[in-house]
Amino acid sequence: MRSCDEDMVFPAGFAWGAATAAYQIEGGWDADGKGPSIWDTFCHAKGKVFQDHTGDVACDSYRLWDEDLKCIQQLGLTHYRLSLSWSRLLPDGTTRHVNQKGVDYYNRVIDDLLASNVCPMVTLYHFDLPQALQDRGGWQWPEITKVFDSYAQFCFQTFGDRVKLWLTINEPYVCAKLGHEDGLHAPGHGDLGVSVYLVGHNMLRAHARAWHSYDTLFRPTQGGQLSLALFTDWAEPWDPSNPLDVAASERYMTFSLDWFAWPIFVSGDYPPEMKARVEANSRTQGLPFSRLPQFSEDEPSIKGTADFFAVNYYTSRKVRPGPTPPKSLGFEGDQQAVGEMDPSWPVCGISWLAVYPEGLRKLLKYIKDTFGNPSIYITENGLSQVGAVELDDSQRCSFFHATWMEVSKAICEDGVDLKGYFVWSLMDNFEWSDGFGVRFGLFHVDFSHPERPRTLYRSGTDYAQLIAKFKGRSGTEH
Ligand code: GAL
Repeated sequence: MRSCDEDMVFPAGFAWGAATAAYQIEGGWDADGKGPSIWDTFCHAKGKVFQDHTGDVACDSYRLWDEDLKCIQQLGLTHYRLSLSWSRLLPDGTTRHVNQKGVDYYNRVIDDLLASNVCPMVTLYHFDLPQALQDRGGWQWPEITKVFDSYAQFCFQTFGDRVKLWLTINEPYVCAKLGHEDGLHAPGHGDLGVSVYLVGHNMLRAHARAWHSYDTLFRPTQGGQLSLALFTDWAEPWDPSNPLDVAASERYMTFSLDWFAWPIFVSGDYPPEMKARVEANSRTQGLPFSRLPQFSEDEPSIKGTADFFAVNYYTSRKVRPGPTPPKSLGFEGDQQAVGEMDPSWPVCGISWLAVYPEGLRKLLKYIKDTFGNPSIYITENGLSQVGAVELDDSQRCSFFHATWMEVSKAICEDGVDLKGYFVWSLMDNFEWSDGFGVRFGLFHVDFSHPERPRTLYRSGTDYAQLIAKFKGRSGTEH
């Protein structure tokens, strides 16, 4: 069932995709009855985002969906990953009030994709919590799990006859850490070492509830699959012969990927080392209980609540032990592992992203070996341009070619059960706290033009050629 190129191999039916997220592309922030989200609030408060950029208009995809569809068709994608704006569908976050215009918009998107023979992968939550729910405590509010479950059921009921690939939450690590520890993402909190774990905990509980609802109420008739998209760097020791560096790099993975993947794919509970370290540090701080919450037996189980493994990979870190935590230190003190970029890795102008495609192959092998050889989708991968824009983006072309080679090796040499690959992103968009200063698109978007014209980069042409080659040979089944 495999089709081979001179140097790359991808299985039949492989999903060739690109990804976006509602707040980053849609604009129409208050159009047609949409409620505000925490990213609307965050951006409208000055001083939070690069040059005070906002997603008020972004790529204007709420108005210009037809243009996005043309881009998707031009690339020949088999799959398109989008997210739903919760507050466009349910302005106050609850099913008490449904915004029909929002439903109509996503119905159109989904129907147009299917009519173009493109399979939608739909994320329910990609960072943009309805502000009305934030006002009730947001992801720190224990009842958020039930409200999320109602929203998820509403979406399954409304779109699940046509959507067969679902992701509940995008990158709980990033929401918890950047939004509630570092304060760099909405809602912009920063109380060290407490909220970060509570938010991660409630996201896991919310995800599990939604999976169980899908499994019992919708899967029998709709027959789809559901998971959540996990983010991690790949971590390796600075000095592989130093056991302290080796242990630190393992801890780095424990506090990023395993934090969420271990409960779901292994034990129903957090990784033992994470539990032990947070508990010990909490005790040293004089707290009567661990800052890492416990799962309750009275709630739906976490273990087994994913039908595939979805991972977002961008870059890697070389790791050594961090300093012994002083009493006040939060998440980073618990993790006690410092990750840096290897000076030999090329950089692309964005502070956290160095080019290391080999890290993706190693990460895929790690997932295979650690989490029971699951089916995997790479739900995001990409490289940005910063500053001067080149449509002939040769650095990104080299990056993508090297990456696809590594992905192919993971499949044919390491036996990873990889089902698909999604580039972040279909087009340049609002890159969170970096605003429009960082461009990840396969299509360039001119944000100074009212019609936001989309123009293919050379890397987009290369991707289209790769897709055409393998889609044709493998007889895509989706
Ligand atoms: C991910 C996120 C995307 C995108 C990407 C590039 O963490 O899910 O929305 O912004 O990073 O930074």
